[in-house]
Amino acid sequence: MMSDRVAGASTVLPVVILISGRGSNMRAIAERAATGSLPVNIRAVICDKADAEGLAVAKSLGLQTRVICARDHANRGAYDLALANLVASFDPALVVLAGFMRILTANFVDRFAGRILNIHPSLLPKYRGLHTHRRVLEAKECEHGVSVHFVTLELDGGPVIIQSCIRVKPDDTEASLSARVQRQEHSIYSQAIDWFARGRLTLLNGQPCLDGEPMSSPLFIDARGD
Ligand code: GAR
Repeated sequence: MMSDRVAGASTVLPVVILISGRGSNMRAIAERAATGSLPVNIRAVICDKADAEGLAVAKSLGLQTRVICARDHANRGAYDLALANLVASFDPALVVLAGFMRILTANFVDRFAGRILNIHPSLLPKYRGLHTHRRVLEAKECEHGVSVHFVTLELDGGPVIIQSCIRVKPDDTEASLSARVQRQEHSIYSQAIDWFARGRLTLLNGQPCLDGEPMSSPLFIDARGD
């Protein structure tokens, strides 16, 4: 697997980030990478929407961007194959899904098996899929949170690496919950990527391993005081 060197720094891991929207997770990762505190080199930010806010953010950070739209492809399989080819052209050691809102098929997932991370705004396995903040409020949950997991073919079902839990307050709205969850996202995603980049985190026989030991459960961060 290839590694990069950045301006006199030590070896860093080449990554490609996939986004669909605002790109705040991508920005958090890029800012840490720029300071050298996260040992990754973002070779490209790829987006499935030409007008996504995150694309402008990526460009303003000096990152290389590409757009690949579903409507230009005959079906999901064809799209995922083209997306996989585009990602592979940057030869990443890790693919980071940061708010990439498409369900990926085997054409993509098998190609980068064990090298795709995703962040999902819920305490998985609870609330897979969309509108997690709304569903948490409707269910009158006391706790909510965010999970980082390896991507498998099962939607939001891959093995979880790290989670952060926040308290749901009585006056919370979708917007207020989302803002607090995102604060946690920006820190735990970098943590998982850092472990992977330093070779501390791997997926072995379907199980996340940290420092060579199978993780019996995800690392759990209690941010209920946040
Ligand atoms: C984040 O909240 C992320 O957890 C969510 O999309 C948002 C992207 O925000 N991802 C999913 O729902 C994936 N199932 P961002 O564009 O500001 O990083």
